[in-house]
Amino acid sequence: MSVALQVSDLRLAIGGVNVVDGIAFSVAPGEVMALVGESGCGKSLTAQALLRLLPRQVRQTGGRILLEGEDITALPERRLRQIRGRRISMIFQEPQAALDPLSPVGAQVREASGLASVAAREAVRRMLAEVGIADPDRRIDQYPFELSGGMCQRVMIASALISRPAVLVADEPTTALDVTIQAQILDLLRRLAAERGTAIVLITHDMGVVADIAERVAVMYAGRIAEIGPTAAVFSRPRHPYTALLLAAIPRLADEPKSRLAVIEGSVPQPSEYGAGCRFVGRCPFADARCNAEPPPLLETDDGHFSACWHTERLA
Ligand SMILES: Nc1ncnc2c1ncn2[C@@H]1O[C@H](COP(=O)(O)OP(=O)(O)O)[C@@H](O)[C@H]1O
Ligand code: SF4
Ligand SMILES: [Mg+2]
Repeated sequence: MSVALQVSDLRLAIGGVNVVDGIAFSVAPGEVMALVGESGCGKSLTAQALLRLLPRQVRQTGGRILLEGEDITALPERRLRQIRGRRISMIFQEPQAALDPLSPVGAQVREASGLASVAAREAVRRMLAEVGIADPDRRIDQYPFELSGGMCQRVMIASALISRPAVLVADEPTTALDVTIQAQILDLLRRLAAERGTAIVLITHDMGVVADIAERVAVMYAGRIAEIGPTAAVFSRPRHPYTALLLAAIPRLADEPKSRLAVIEGSVPQPSEYGAGCRFVGRCPFADARCNAEPPPLLETDDGHFSACWHTERLA
C-alpha cells in the first residue's frame, strides 16, 4: 500500500508539557482518515504541525512527518512554502475568515493555483464547478460577502485543491455550517478523495461525521491516540473505554449534534494536570493503580486496530 502521509511519534510541547505526545498515523492516497476527540486534545496543533505552521510558543520536540516519503520536518521555510498548497493543503472551520474580503473569489483560487492568468480563468472555472458551485461564470468575479458560508467553504476547498495536492488537512470544515450544508461538504470531500486520489485528514469532534465519511479513525484523548483502526471495526467493537463512552453518547437519532460528547462525566484534564499514567484515568470506570502509574502502550488488538489501554479485556 502506498502512503501519502506518514506521521510517526509526533511530539509538540508548550512550556515543558507535551500537549501532543507521541502520536502516529498514516493516510493512503484516496483515503479519508478522521482524527476525532474533545476540544483541547491536540487536533488543531497536529494539523498545524503537518503544514509546519505551528504557533510560536509551540515546539515540535520529536517525531517525523513524511509527505509522499519525503521527511518535511527538517525542511527550510523556503522549501516549505513550495510544498504548502501544492503538495499538502489545509482548510479551516471559518471559511470567511480564511478568504480575503477585498478580492474576488476566482482571483483567490487562481492565486492558489500559481497559474498565469489566461489559462487560469478556465482552470478556476472548472475547479469551482467541480466543488459544486452553480453558475461558476458569475461566481468567479464575486466577493466573499456575496456568497453563503457553505459556498465560501467550497471556494476554500477549490483553493486548497486546484494544485492537486497529495494531502488535504481539513480542520473541523463543517462545524460552522448547518446540517444540510455539512452533509453536502462531507459528500464533496469523499468524492474528491475517491476521484482525485487525495488523501484527506479530517479533523472533527463529532463521531457522527466520522461515521459518515471516514474509512479509518484515530481517537485522540489529551494529546495521545487512545484508539485507531478501520471505522467499521472501531464503531462495532471499540477497544478503548473512551471510545466506548463516546459511542454510547451518540443519540440514535442525532438531533443535537453539538452535544454528543458532553455526556461523559468529568472533563478533559488540562496539560498542567497530566499525570504519569493514562491520561483518561480521572474519567475511566476501569481505572486502577497501574493506570495511574504507567502510560498504556498502543497495541494491536485486531487487524489494523490498535488501542492504548491496560484493560481492553474489560470491554465486551
Ligand atoms: N497558540 C497556542 N498557545 C498556547 N496554547 C495552545 C495554543 N494552541 C493550542 N494550545 C493548547 O494546546 C492544547 C491543544 O489544543 P488544540 O490543538 O487547539 O486542540 P483541539 O483542536 O483538539 O481542540 C490545548 O491545551 C490548548 O489550550
Ligand atoms: S489504561 Fe486504565 S484508565 Fe486508561 S483507559 Fe485503560 S482502564 Fe481506563
Ligand atoms: Mg481545534
